Amino acid sequence: MLRLAEHEVVPTYHTKPVPDGVRMDVLRRDEVEDVLRKVRPDGIIHTAYRQSDWETTADGAANLAFAARGARLVFVSSDVVFGGRAQAYDENDAPCPVTPYGAAKAAAETAIRAIDPSAVIARTSLIVGYDGRSSHEQFVHGLANGEPGALFTGNIRCPVHVTDLASALLELLTSDFNGIAHVAGPQAVNRLELGRLIAIRDGLDPDALPFEPGQPSDLRLNCERTQKFLTTRLRPVREFLAN
Ligand SMILES: NC(=O)c1ccc[n+]([C@@H]2O[C@H](COP(=O)([O-])OP(=O)(O)OC[C@H]3O[C@@H](n4cnc5c(N)ncnc54)[C@H](OP(=O)(O)O)[C@@H]3O)[C@@H](O)[C@H]2O)c1
Repeated sequence: MLRLAEHEVVPTYHTKPVPDGVRMDVLRRDEVEDVLRKVRPDGIIHTAYRQSDWETTADGAANLAFAARGARLVFVSSDVVFGGRAQAYDENDAPCPVTPYGAAKAAAETAIRAIDPSAVIARTSLIVGYDGRSSHEQFVHGLANGEPGALFTGNIRCPVHVTDLASALLELLTSDFNGIAHVAGPQAVNRLELGRLIAIRDGLDPDALPFEPGQPSDLRLNCERTQKFLTTRLRPVREFLAN
């Protein structure tokens, strides 16, 4: 999408090379600084993380923000910085994570805001729509094929289509927005509802998907304020998974 918008794009990778990509380990400050010195980006969208590794998610983000000074920075954060409650979270709510991954993303947010107050912290939710390739779609396909697991009815999120997210991130990158943005879909569903929508779209039996209550966690993001700023329309999940 960045390329379609005629930006010169330099993707980075760590272990899985990508076309025209530059290898960079965010844990290595010297390496991050070296890459940024060579590439001299006007803007950076930082997505690198490992869900089970604090250092990559938190320290890595701080290393990147420190080295990026002077470049416009958009950090992709997550709804898991919140712990769950009946009311949707808006951009002014303080993080209250309950998982190590959520805590690492919250720590990354704090570090980035301290290093670069003009950076954008873009919190999103379940990312789907990679033509079946996202982890969420793969999980549903696996369950439909009899693999072990279950969809948790207690886990409520606001899924976003990957192209809507990419378009919104590009808008934020090229805008004068700073601070926290909520960039997720406007419709909340639980994991079973999401799984059934994916199954129907992909010609699988929605009623065959196993489910359990799971731990209750309602992580709805209220995106109204950010949506007003964007021209990208963040589509509801029932719309973008309808066909
Ligand atoms: N997926 C979701 O539903 C979801 C929901 C909410 C928020 N988010 C956020 O959205 C962003 C993207 O998520 P995703 O699931 O699409 O990510 P992903 O495809 O798993 O990509 C993670 C990237 O991080 C890179 N990486 C890992 N360790 C690194 C290191 N030490 N140095 C440099 N790069 C490193 C990986 O590179 P290699 O593959 O080359 O190792 C990979 O390109 C993340 O920030 C995540 O927290 C995702």
